[in-house]
Parts: sequence; C-alpha cells; structure tokens
Amino acid sequence: MHFLSSSALLAVSALAVASANPLQRQHSFFATNATCPIDTISCSGEPVSPCCSPTNGLLVLAMQWDTRWGPSNAFTVHGLWPDTCEGKQLPANGCDPARAYTNITSIIRASDVSLLADMNTYWPSNKGDNNWFWTHEWVKHGTCVSTLHPECYAEDAYRPQQEVADYFRTILDLRTKYDLYKALAKHDIVPTEPESGRRPKNTYSLKQFKQAIFSEWGVEPNVRCIGRRLQEVFLWFKVRGRDSYYPVQPYGRDSCGAISYQRKTTAV
Ligand SMILES: *[C@@H]1O[C@H](CO)[C@@H](O)[C@H](O)[C@H]1NC(C)=O
Ligand SMILES: *[C@@H]1O[C@H](CO)[C@@H](O)[C@H](O)[C@H]1NC(C)=O
Repeated sequence: MHFLSSSALLAVSALAVASANPLQRQHSFFATNATCPIDTISCSGEPVSPCCSPTNGLLVLAMQWDTRWGPSNAFTVHGLWPDTCEGKQLPANGCDPARAYTNITSIIRASDVSLLADMNTYWPSNKGDNNWFWTHEWVKHGTCVSTLHPECYAEDAYRPQQEVADYFRTILDLRTKYDLYKALAKHDIVPTEPESGRRPKNTYSLKQFKQAIFSEWGVEPNVRCIGRRLQEVFLWFKVRGRDSYYPVQPYGRDSCGAISYQRKTTAV
C-alpha cells in the first residue's frame, strides 16, 4: 500500500482491534492513537494497522564512507529506506505527496536543535547541500514509513511535521547503535593510507568485512564499492512493534572484491 487513506487506516485498525488479543498500548517515544500489539513483526503477514507495524517492513540502513565528509571515525548516513516485504524498492516519488516537505532543516530546527546538530555531523550531503539531501530522503523514503503517518499519533499530542523529526531521530539512533566504524575497528579493520602507485595494497576482503559485522550483530551487511573504493554499507532491518528495529540477513547484493577503505581527508 503506497498511499494511506484514512478510511483504509481506520478499516485496518478496526480489524486489528477485532482480531489481535491481548492488546496493549505500546510504549514508544511518540504517542500513538492506535492500540497496538507490542510484538508484531513487520512483514510477517499479521493483520495489524499500518500505524502498528510498518507496511513496508523491510528497511535498509544505508551508511556511506566518503573520505571527504563527516568525522574521520564514523560512517555517515545515506538514509533509511523502507522496502516491500520482498525487498523491492518503492516509487521514487515516495508515498505521500501531501507531505513532500522541502524545508527539512527548518522543521528539525524548530523541533530539536540538538538533532539538527547531529544530522549536520553524521548526515552531511556529499554535494554540500544538506537540506536538499534530507528533503530527498524524507520525500522518497520517510513518507513511506506507515507508522509515522500523522493519523497514527494521538490527536491531542500531534504537532505538525512532528513525524519528520521522529524519522530522522530514529535513524541517528540506529547509526549510534549500529556503529560500523567501531564494529569494524574491533576486528582490526581500520581505514588505511591512500593507495599509491599501481599495485593494489592496503585492501581488505569482502569476507573480512562480512565476518566482522556478522560477529557483532549476527547478520551480514551488503557492501558496495566503486571499483575497489568502499562506498556504502547496507544493514537490513525488520521492526518489532511500531519502532523496535532489529537487524536481519541482507536481501541485496554486494559489489566489492578487494575493498579499499581509506582514511578520510576531513580534519575532524
Ligand atoms: C515547513 O513547510 C510546511 C509546508 O509548506 C509548513 O506548513 C511549515 O510551517 C514549515 N515549517 C517550518 C518550521 O518552517
Ligand atoms: C485516531 O486518529 C484518527 C484520524 O485522525 C481519528 O479519526 C480517530 O478518532 C483517532 N482515534 C483515537 C482513538 O483517538
């Protein structure tokens, strides 16, 4: 379901209330007006409201390694992308044109300045225009997180565009929890000096990357390269309840052989 109409939402909510038992109000960082079973697993086929479990319940946390941007000891965020339960991407124009906000920086600043500071640090655009990048990620992906639809919030508690900050905060929390740089460093995979000359050197194998992550979190990542140069690492998630993300085995492909994981040129 790409567009949530309120009648569809209410119909599915009613179904959830009628069929699931026992029901409990789930504790969450945002108040909900739906009564949700607490341990629904996304993509398991359980008939619950899209407010209670993300409809597009397989999500990719895409983290980038760009030597020109971000802290020298951190991957930066590309995005959190809800996919269909079969691992297919959603439409490029997102899921809700009515919420295709283009003022993400202003929305976040008005809501949570420390979140904005974290986004500037850990989610820089590699084209130098953060608002453009965040807008793109919000419109294409954020609007597709069914549990963040405004109708899922308690009516009296909802502030306009609150779900935007909730989306970005969720992602930065995942970045902190699944800190790739730290996980790799624990297994002696650290950035190397830039390669020089013609001979490939200072590279890691795909297997080393996959094994390091597997031993930390019990799942493998997808690792993406351009040539040998490390570009992105994807971690795949499903969701328990409304917003408890847990990693699952990847649904995508790797595109690296030997991996050149180079030291950043940024000062921080
Ligand atoms: C962002 O844009 C939306 C839609 O145009 C508007 O309603 C809202 O007030 C704006 N928010 C801020 C904080 O500027
Ligand atoms: C939940 O939100 C919908 C849409 O705003 C509203 O119609 C419904 O009455 C709300 N339900 C509760 C229990 O507040």
